[in-house]
Amino acid sequence: MESLIKRAAEDMAGSKYAIVLTGAGMSTESEIPDFRGPKGIWTTNKEAEAKAYQRYELFLSDPKAYWEEILGLQGTYGTFHEQIRQAQPNPGHYALAELEALGILRCIITQNIDGLHKKAGSKRVLEYHGSVNAVRCLSCGSRFSREEISLNELPPHCKCGAVLKDDVVHFKEPIPLDVMTESENEALQCDLMLICGTSAVVYPFANLPRMARYRASRLVLGLDVIGRKTDVKIIEANADPTPLTHEGVSDYLIQGKTGEILPRIVEEVKKIRR
Ligand code: APR
Repeated sequence: MESLIKRAAEDMAGSKYAIVLTGAGMSTESEIPDFRGPKGIWTTNKEAEAKAYQRYELFLSDPKAYWEEILGLQGTYGTFHEQIRQAQPNPGHYALAELEALGILRCIITQNIDGLHKKAGSKRVLEYHGSVNAVRCLSCGSRFSREEISLNELPPHCKCGAVLKDDVVHFKEPIPLDVMTESENEALQCDLMLICGTSAVVYPFANLPRMARYRASRLVLGLDVIGRKTDVKIIEANADPTPLTHEGVSDYLIQGKTGEILPRIVEEVKKIRR
């Protein structure tokens, strides 16, 4: 692992446009379980997974009941959200914030709804699956922090009159176009992509590494793009190999905990920079 950490630090120090993609594995060391790992929420609680696939439809069919669930007035989902809001960043989050402060990292694109990257001080964070700290209007696209809206009457309404939804993106819900487009632009212009703590099986997020690898927009992925393989450096830091490892989309995998690997990479980058 040490030699791969040194290699990653050299690659990052030599990069001109480095970005990071993150998933639930980043936050397990902050006591938030992941989804598909051995202790993952979907692995251990099939009922919760089934409910997660119905949540978007519940919002569309009965927004009042949806909000009662979000706020924990019904079921357990609300308490899980509260647990997430109380969580604190771990050394992995702080290491990424430091790489940004060093001018190496241009942005983080995260699947995590926990807001821990921002809590750790990262400035440019694209929350691809939304955030537990915000609400969103599907009609006019406005976003508000939870503190800005009244939840006295459910469902809450936007200033445009439409019903507000929690900002978290549920299964079967389209990814908001603004964050999806910005994320794809980042993937298409980076020369290094570090992928941390994700099983890389959920789409369309899992397209992003392939877009970087083949410099191909989402629309042409799947067509014969193999011949267009680029020299973008794609590095995984994850407890387990993923389809990106097996398919050779990534150049190498640093197998272990992000809370241990990422601070080590920062240390090595600083040595190189000295
Ligand atoms: N360090 C490194 N890797 C870790 C750590 C850790 N401390 N803890 C867990 N992992 C790895 C697991 O081995 C697994 O490969 O992180 C990965 C987490 O994968 P998932 O649980 O599938 O989470 P993620 O990829 O973020 O899921 C994507 O699926 O359920 C939806 O919307 C939800 O955003 C989520 C999306």
